[in-house]
Amino acid sequence: MGFKWILGFVLLEFSLQSAHAAFNAQVFATTSKVIIFQWDKVADASSYEITLALKSNPSAVVAFAVFGANIVMGSVSTGLTPNTNYSFTIEAKTSAGNVVNTDSGEHLTAPEQIDSVITVTAKDSTTLEMEFTPKAGVSKYIIRALDTQDPPTFIEEVEVTSSPALVPNLQPYTDYKLSIMSANDGGRSQPTAPVTAKTLLPPPQIQSSSPSNSTIDVSWTAVASAQEYTVFLLKYGASESEKMSHNTSNTNYAFTGLDPGALYMIECYAWDAEGRKGESAQTNQTTRPPAPPLSP
Ligand SMILES: *[C@@H]1O[C@H](CO)[C@@H](O)[C@H](O)[C@H]1NC(C)=O
Ligand SMILES: *[C@@H]1O[C@H](CO)[C@@H](O)[C@H](O)[C@H]1NC(C)=O
Ligand SMILES: *[C@@H]1O[C@H](CO)[C@@H](O)[C@H](O)[C@H]1NC(C)=O
Ligand SMILES: *[C@@H]1O[C@H](CO)[C@@H](O)[C@H](O)[C@H]1NC(C)=O
Repeated sequence: MGFKWILGFVLLEFSLQSAHAAFNAQVFATTSKVIIFQWDKVADASSYEITLALKSNPSAVVAFAVFGANIVMGSVSTGLTPNTNYSFTIEAKTSAGNVVNTDSGEHLTAPEQIDSVITVTAKDSTTLEMEFTPKAGVSKYIIRALDTQDPPTFIEEVEVTSSPALVPNLQPYTDYKLSIMSANDGGRSQPTAPVTAKTLLPPPQIQSSSPSNSTIDVSWTAVASAQEYTVFLLKYGASESEKMSHNTSNTNYAFTGLDPGALYMIECYAWDAEGRKGESAQTNQTTRPPAPPLSP
């Protein structure tokens, strides 16, 4: 009997201590000028008070916020500066004003938001390039790429350090909405307004042959959404001015009047509805050799 009482007392003591030790207030998210806190609900508390000060000057209160008994998440946004270390204290108080629990910590606000003047261009069929104005003292940026579905079905974030920056591994000839955030160890700024850009058409797959000593036949796979194709031929070592080119909406072309036994370089790309050249494909082809001298 006496043993049970002791055990009960020990368990009660243990649970009280762990409830106290478990009060945990932490930063849930941070932008340049907002810190969102999250804390454990305390049974006796009727309010939660958050006090924020500069880490470099803990005695001067910068911001103060009070939340009610049933609230376990709240933000502080008045008077905060980007890229600044703050110390915070969260106190759980009873209706009589007694502090029942407290937790404290430090947190860095995210750097200043990037100016929305950004340029996005297609580098090739799977890569977009973004130019932005870097912020002084910021060495980390996050580019977010979304497709244009609502809601988006594709979300990718790429961490970059300078401008211009590349966003790789995208789908060919697809629209993406790109925005950029500045970031540090504390968090991320708000994203810029998104800019939409489309990747280029993919390269055609080329095949070539030389049916005679003066001709090269080139054919290629159709590229979806292509308006037409340009195919080029240049003899290896010849000057650019000798480059032959042909535009067609077909998927083959025969170059004639060529030199026998010579190496030719072939290039082909598609044009899209926006009048942009797609990513180009290259191959080489040698014409059939000259006829052997006639035996007497
Ligand atoms: C914030 O505090 C951390 C840790 O003390 C320090 O490494 C960092 O340089 C500080 N950042 C700023 C912007 O003051
Ligand atoms: C093919 O089309 C492009 C784009 O319209 C044009 O700039 C180029 O001169 C054309 N080439 C030929 C050989 O017609
Ligand atoms: C074509 O041949 C040239 C000369 O040998 C070479 O430099 C080039 O890489 C070749 N191109 C392709 C696509 O194989
Ligand atoms: C190329 O081939 C044709 C026949 O197909 C032949 O008459 C001609 O002499 C050849 N040219 C050379 C330079 O060998």
